[in-house]
Amino acid sequence: MSDWIHVGRPEEIPAGQYKVVELDDTQVAIVNYRGAFYAIEDICTHDGARLTGLPLEEDQIVCPRHGARFCVRTGKAVTAPAYQDIDCFPVEIRDDGLYIRDNRWD
Ligand code: FES
Repeated sequence: MSDWIHVGRPEEIPAGQYKVVELDDTQVAIVNYRGAFYAIEDICTHDGARLTGLPLEEDQIVCPRHGARFCVRTGKAVTAPAYQDIDCFPVEIRDDGLYIRDNRWD
């Protein structure tokens, strides 16, 4: 089980925006959707493009390369051409900021 890592403070990420951090060599987008924070892998399951770059559309992130959409709350692939979900990571808000943890191999 990996440790929790500090990735910044909530006020650094306004609602509707995201910040990219590195977690065990994986690019992860920390997303603020309506005041709740989610952590998603920043790699499209269609063809490996970075998912970040475009503004969020409600709770969806849109791949800049071919337009697949993923839910930032669940990682679910919402539209073609992606059919495989992206990884999501647990987020905690503590007194000193935001923490995420890589739980893929728990
Ligand atoms: S690489 Fe993301 S939709 Fe094709």
